[in-house]
Order: sequence, then C-alpha cells, then structure tokens
Amino acid sequence: MNALPVQDPNTRTALITGANNGIGLELTRRLLNEGWQVAVLIRSSFPADDDAIASAIRGGRLRIYRAELTDFRQLAEALKQIQAAETAIDVLFNNAGGSLPELRFSPQGREMHYELQTVVPYLIYRETKELLLRGSLKTVVGTSSNAFNFTKTFDPGKLARPERFKALTGAYADTKLALSLWTQALAPAEAADGIRLRSADPGPNNTLRKGKKSGLPFPVNYLMRFVFPPPSSGAGRLYDAAVGPYQDKTGVLINSKGVVELKFADRAQQVLDQVDRIYREEFRQLM
Ligand SMILES: NC(=O)c1ccc[n+]([C@@H]2O[C@H](COP(=O)([O-])OP(=O)(O)OC[C@H]3O[C@@H](n4cnc5c(N)ncnc54)[C@H](OP(=O)(O)O)[C@@H]3O)[C@@H](O)[C@H]2O)c1
Repeated sequence: MNALPVQDPNTRTALITGANNGIGLELTRRLLNEGWQVAVLIRSSFPADDDAIASAIRGGRLRIYRAELTDFRQLAEALKQIQAAETAIDVLFNNAGGSLPELRFSPQGREMHYELQTVVPYLIYRETKELLLRGSLKTVVGTSSNAFNFTKTFDPGKLARPERFKALTGAYADTKLALSLWTQALAPAEAADGIRLRSADPGPNNTLRKGKKSGLPFPVNYLMRFVFPPPSSGAGRLYDAAVGPYQDKTGVLINSKGVVELKFADRAQQVLDQVDRIYREEFRQLM
C-alpha cells in the first residue's frame, strides 16, 4: 500500500456544504477564526461584503468548490476536484439543506429533499472517505433537525416519490430522519477504520432570506423572524457535535438534550441500503 501524505498536525481542515449562507456561513467564520483550513462545497457565492471571507479566499485558507448538489454530474465533477486538490479532511460537515414550498424532483428523478438531505450526504461521504482517513479527527457531522419529533409513520420506500406535499413535517422531516438513520446504521462498520459519524440538530435559527420561498408554515415563519436566535447558535451546535463532548460517540443523533434515541431505528438498515444502492448503481460510474 502507498504511504499516505502526512498532514500538518497543527492544522485542521473542514469540508462544509452549504457554507455560504446561514448556519454553514457562521460555522465557516468560526472555524476560520480558530485557524482551521476550510474547503467548501457550495452552489452560490459568499456575501460580497465580507472582508474576512474574502481575505481567507485570497490567502488560500478558504477553498471553494462549486456544485448544485442535487445534480449528480455537477457533484461528481466537484468531488473529483476536491480529491485532486485537498490533502486531508478532519471533519466533513454535510450541512446543505432546507425546506422547499412544494415537491420538486432532481435531475435523477428523485424528490429534492430526499436527494439533497439524505442521498447526497452519503455520496459525499463515500467519495471523501480517503481524505478523512488522512485527517486526524476522522469525523462526519450531518445536519439533521427536530422536525421529525412528531412523525408517526415512516416508509423509506416512499422517500423518492412522496404521495403528497406537507410543509416541514412531510418530505423535509422524513429525509432528515433518513439522514440520521443511515448515519446510525453505517457507523459500526466505519468505526473499524477509525471514522466516527454523527448527526446533529442545530436547533431553531433565524435563517430567513429575502425573496426565498422556504416552504415553512406561517407560525414557524413568524417564530423564525421574531424569536429564533441567529445562525451562530446552530453553528455552535454543529461545532460541538464535531469537536465537543461527543467526540468519542458514533452513530448518534445529538440535539439540545444531548444524545437522543432515534425513532424508527428498525428502518435504519433499509435507508442505508437504499442510499448505498444509489451510490453503487448511479453515482460511482460518474467519478
Ligand atoms: N434554520 C433552522 O432553524 C434549522 C433547523 C434545523 C435544521 N436546519 C438545517 O440546517 C442546514 C443549514 O440551513 P440554514 O438554516 O442555514 O439555511 P440557509 O441559510 O438557507 O442555508 C442553506 C445552505 O444550503 C445550501 N443549499 C441548499 N440547497 C442546495 C443545493 N441544492 N445545492 C447546493 N447547496 C444547497 C444553500 O445554498 P444557497 O445559498 O445557494 O441557497 C445554503 O448555503 C440545513 O440542512 C437545514 O435543513 C436548519
């Protein structure tokens, strides 16, 4: 086996998706402030007026890879660039996501929430695993949600083609649950390679954006605007899930109460089998 390139032990590197807005942007700012190197996989730009971000880009500490993540061709091209240019990843933050105002379908024909929030994080993990093995922390954090707290029925077989749209508690919630479930099912096998995978609920955050239809029910929209804390709060939760008190845990979901039991755990393997099949049968050939 070839010797792996050695990473400077004093430098930590994160790969963050959805890093240019909201919680991901605050997480990017925090890690840069703490001296991390940050690679980001984003589809649109950082705020133009952020001097610290601009200076980190110029200095090479913030490296940008671009893709509309639900388009497998774009995602594969960006992942090839990451594999070619990055030396190691300590923490992968699979953070991109959000609720849509209706059911939409990806270029591959699956419902968008499922593609973006459940399938894509798995594909990114698979294709960055070699880089994670070269990092020192070997950690993956998926951004989950508490939106599925009241979910009563869950059928993994319907995630790709839901029967109807329901704001926040429908496809959005189901596909966040599915992310946490495959994380739990995959963790034991990956522990053999020293990799730890967790999912984390960033809690409520005001990440409303002008002109963007979020698909949030009116009361949640109201709470977001007037009650929820700024996205630095959620960024703190993701940061703690990665390098805080849960560092030795794997497969777990972390929310404001700490490590919590996942509902529908009996379907975790089925969800993992589904995303793994998509990886093997559709995605790997694009790499
Ligand atoms: N805010 C909350 O209260 C809350 C609560 C629980 C969980 N979360 C989760 O936290 C994560 C971050 O969300 P946020 O609240 O910070 O919202 P946000 O400000 O809208 O940020 C979402 C990020 O994901 C990116 N993204 C969305 N769809 C994408 C796609 N198809 N391809 C590439 N990138 C895409 C966005 O890119 P663009 O800038 O190009 O749109 C943006 O960078 C999400 O997974 C969300 O579900 C949020």
